[in-house]
Amino acid sequence: MEIEVLDSRNSKVVAKCNVKSTTTIKDLKTQVHSSNKKLHPHRQAFRLEVKGKMLKDSDTMESLNLRSGSKLYIKDLGPQIGWSTVFLAEYAGPLLVYLWIYQRPWLFYGDSSAEISQTAHIAAACWTIHYAKRLLETIFVHRFSHATMPLRNLFKNCIYYWGFAAYVAYHVNHPQFTSPCMTQVYIALGGFLISELGNLSIHINLRNLRPPGTSIRKIPVADANPLTALFNFVSCPNYTYEFLAWLSFSILTQCLPAFVFALAGVFQMAVWALGKHRNYKKEFKDYPKCRKAIIPFIL
Ligand SMILES: NC(=O)c1ccc[n+]([C@@H]2O[C@H](COP(=O)([O-])OP(=O)(O)OC[C@H]3O[C@@H](n4cnc5c(N)ncnc54)[C@H](OP(=O)(O)O)[C@@H]3O)[C@@H](O)[C@H]2O)c1
Repeated sequence: MEIEVLDSRNSKVVAKCNVKSTTTIKDLKTQVHSSNKKLHPHRQAFRLEVKGKMLKDSDTMESLNLRSGSKLYIKDLGPQIGWSTVFLAEYAGPLLVYLWIYQRPWLFYGDSSAEISQTAHIAAACWTIHYAKRLLETIFVHRFSHATMPLRNLFKNCIYYWGFAAYVAYHVNHPQFTSPCMTQVYIALGGFLISELGNLSIHINLRNLRPPGTSIRKIPVADANPLTALFNFVSCPNYTYEFLAWLSFSILTQCLPAFVFALAGVFQMAVWALGKHRNYKKEFKDYPKCRKAIIPFIL
């Protein structure tokens, strides 16, 4: 049978494809690519309606009830870049920027002989642990469902992460930085390390939900690791732990830019968590009713 592929922006015909009932969206992307070399399969997003839900690569013509003469809408997602490349650039940048400013470069501070405080050393270690962990997770833990993302996101995300790294590092490593008392520093350091462990535990739990090489999604549940018990209360405990880690870092340094970074992060993650929570409830009829999105009992 033949189906028509229309451009979702102007409804012009992009391709006419010969398909079988077992043809998948992934096969269709390859067919469109062979007739239009600019449209690499990773750039294509298919929908049943112009503003409908994006179809999965594994959907077949039969499962979508498509018949001869049916129409599908295609959106060009623009130039793409590998997820892992994006994450590596996003996370290696803040690590390098922070550690450079930690060296007190003349460019920022002129000639300064003031000693770097013990707290600034601890803060640099925390920053390094966080971003080194994220780099290692990107390589060894996460199983992403999409191989690529739009290139423009790389610029947006790098400006956010690199910019905040410079803003926070400049203040924490400033010769006039005043440390809070060491009891506060060590308690906050404990909170930071537990939150980082919690975040890692959730990422490993999410990884174990998905068999290698698939994009299967399941309802996440707590496992034997007690730090994953947060799944009983929220849909995105990795974001909860990420926020707690930055809140602890802010208390540790008692530095306003660090608080601003923690607040910007929790705002962004709350928006994403609410979206993910909504999708879980839509996708799984038996999704636990007692869960919130990111903050237990509240949000
Ligand atoms: N400071 C900040 O502003 C900020 C903002 C965002 C993120 N982060 C950090 O970056 C980490 C990763 O962020 P993210 O947004 O990629 O987290 P995420 O959406 O929770 O995803 C983490 C990994 O788990 C997979 N996954 C999620 N839910 C799944 C399910 N139900 N079944 C199977 N696999 C599932 C995801 O695959 P998919 O590819 O299918 O999604 C992805 O590979 C966060 O945990 C946080 O630590 C920080």
